[in-house]
Amino acid sequence: MSELRTERLVLRDWRASDLAPWAALNADPEVREYFPGVLTREESEASAARFQADLDRRGWGWWAVETAAAGEFIGFAGLDPVEDGMPFTGVEAGWRLARPAWGHGYATEAARAVLGHAFGELGLAEVLALTTATNARSRAVMRRLGMTRDPAEDFDDPDVPEGPLRRCVVYRLRRPAQAG
Ligand SMILES: CC(C)(COP(=O)(O)OP(=O)(O)OC[C@H]1O[C@@H](n2cnc3c(N)ncnc32)[C@H](O)[C@@H]1OP(=O)(O)O)[C@@H](O)C(=O)NCCC(=O)NCCS
Repeated sequence: MSELRTERLVLRDWRASDLAPWAALNADPEVREYFPGVLTREESEASAARFQADLDRRGWGWWAVETAAAGEFIGFAGLDPVEDGMPFTGVEAGWRLARPAWGHGYATEAARAVLGHAFGELGLAEVLALTTATNARSRAVMRRLGMTRDPAEDFDDPDVPEGPLRRCVVYRLRRPAQAG
């Protein structure tokens, strides 16, 4: 079992009780504004099963996120290898929270723990983050994390149909130099 803790959050394995709020989150058009569409209950459940299988197999991936105080499931955060077919390879960080959990700094707080794990325990030299160019909230998280974008790396996501969601940006962060 792998678990990351922050001041206000726990990143943990998926539970059966997460499936209903996870499906509700993925059925919310506002949460899915920058994705090709909302997900069915079946698609949401299948994704949670895949995420847990990855966590079981390698000990890191897309963790379920809950608030430490209330134990309430609010979404996911974590890391995954960049999908095949992208114009680059590497490990990307990502986040997706239920609408009521936006605006509290939770995504950035979870992602800081994820990056600490990536550069620490996992020993990665660099972490990427990808999003549709117009996803200002996600890009703001990337900037708050200290990640930077080279416009020369902007690309069209081959998995997204022709249209406004296709243009994507890449943010990168190198492992900080060891102090001392
Ligand atoms: C992307 C997403 C996770 C960003 O969530 P977010 O809540 O905006 O991001 P943060 O956790 O960094 O929170 C920052 C906000 O919390 C506020 N905040 C409130 N209390 C805070 C605290 N204690 N500490 C830090 N920030 C706090 C900040 O002022 C900021 O507010 P602002 O949006 O008005 O500027 C969210 O919009 C989301 O899930 N979107 C749908 C899925 C998605 O697009 N995922 C990314 C795909 S690449």
